[in-house]
Amino acid sequence: MGIGPLLETYRHEIEDILRESLEHELKAFDEYKALLELVKDQEPRLEEWVREKLREELEQYDEVSKMLRKPGLIEAYH
Ligand SMILES: [Fe+2]
Repeated sequence: MGIGPLLETYRHEIEDILRESLEHELKAFDEYKALLELVKDQEPRLEEWVREKLREELEQYDEVSKMLRKPGLIEAYH
């Protein structure tokens, strides 16, 4: 396994950092989803582990998304 290209923008205002974090969470989710396709119905324990990671990445995405909301807004940040 190698390290993919980093999504670093070199802008470090707090909102920029959170947007980068959101991109990372989404990227991680996509990677685990691809992994799930490889192990689904073939490696039960690995499949279970990947599904847990997918849940974690979604939770982390939601947390960062909440941090990006403007005060008073309740809709998800996109
Ligand atoms: Fe994450």
